[in-house]
Amino acid sequence: MEAERARRFSFAAKAGATPLRIARSEGVWLYTDDGQQILDAAGGAIVVNIGHGRREVAEAYAREAERAAYAIPPFATESRVRLVERLVDRWLPRGLTRVAFTSGGSESVDAALRIARAHFVAKGESKRWKVIGRELSYHGTTLATLAVGGHTKRRAGLEPWLADLPKAPACYCWRCPLGKSYPSCGVACADEVEATLLRAGPETVAAVIAEPIGGSTAGALVPPDEYWPRLAEICKRYGVLLIADEVMTGFGRTGKRFAVDHWGVTPDILVGGKGLTGGYAPMGGIFATEAVVAPIIERGQEVMFFTYSAHPASCAAADKVLEILEREQLVERAALMGEKLGKRLARLLEHPNIGDVRGRGLLWAVELVADKATKTPFPVDRGLTAKIVAAGIAHGIFVYPGGVDPARDVITFGPPFTISEHEIDLIGERFEQALESALARIH
Ligand SMILES: Cc1ncc(COP(=O)(O)O)c(C=O)c1O
Repeated sequence: MEAERARRFSFAAKAGATPLRIARSEGVWLYTDDGQQILDAAGGAIVVNIGHGRREVAEAYAREAERAAYAIPPFATESRVRLVERLVDRWLPRGLTRVAFTSGGSESVDAALRIARAHFVAKGESKRWKVIGRELSYHGTTLATLAVGGHTKRRAGLEPWLADLPKAPACYCWRCPLGKSYPSCGVACADEVEATLLRAGPETVAAVIAEPIGGSTAGALVPPDEYWPRLAEICKRYGVLLIADEVMTGFGRTGKRFAVDHWGVTPDILVGGKGLTGGYAPMGGIFATEAVVAPIIERGQEVMFFTYSAHPASCAAADKVLEILEREQLVERAALMGEKLGKRLARLLEHPNIGDVRGRGLLWAVELVADKATKTPFPVDRGLTAKIVAAGIAHGIFVYPGGVDPARDVITFGPPFTISEHEIDLIGERFEQALESALARIH
């Protein structure tokens, strides 16, 4: 593919810039068409869990595309039914028995919000419409999902279209927004969810939505162990639905099937995406309890599908990806290799500009600062994160950019679960090289 043709690709970031030209990918490696080999330390957008280039997934997809290219979402197909059975029997937290699919994370969160609202309308509690989100969160890029999210950069300019919904503080221990520290804080950030709910008026609130472990917005924010059980209690007390957005953390990424499994919590609605198909097909899912769905069914209330919801070939790909995760015990491997990656990244804390290293399983992030003692970020105009990502490509590693003030410069790591120890060492080495090159360019 010549540079000139690649430049016509409409999503190239800057006018005249040539996007990275990927010819193929295999395992944890991306290959460009000019022969460069890049370690995919982010599994794309923290998506690729079983590794690139698995022929059996491509074959399962192709077989289904040939057998049943398209059927409207309410119809049953063999691939749909098989996937639902696998999810309910072997993957989802107990109690989540109702399943619907979409084509991705944003669509799934959007649908989850509509389901939560439909639940209360069907029950005759139509005053309940507000959804409480959190600061420094991301739930997708549709207007409803941006409204419940707290990603100020991605919301910028769209505010007039976004419903003004209450936000609770993030669980961001390294820079606690409440100025406290764990454990003496008593997990006050959970109490703040209750306070937010009370300020909003509990009788007007339909749901609380949160990522069990924050994604790339502020970088792998892991809450204290008490947080999620407390969140579940609060929601129950006020009759509000708890929505766990596991688009990034689901399907093994954090070393358990779902991140809520770290704390034994079953939310009312769980949302998945990314890892469901490991990047092999665009797909997301909404998983709910019978209690959430029953009133909607009783009242015959419609929750409209998307044309490509539950696409048969995507279902076949997802079923095969989950089968591979089970057969190769890759969730357990994510926990094991995650510890090794965490230890390797923790060595970076010796660096004067690495403020924090945090994560769980194979979802890790580093936060960069100009001054470690004061936790002062680099000036915005230095564009440090973007420079690290660009330098990473030059050094043969792809890392995922993140960060929103006050976590201004954040790099997230989320490699395929199949990564080897040697490749983890390479992540450490190449990231250090990329960091030095980027810092040399901004000083
Ligand atoms: C937690 C979370 N929710 C929702 C989304 C949106 O998913 P998608 O980009 O597939 O629409 C993302 C994407 O990064 C995410 O991390």
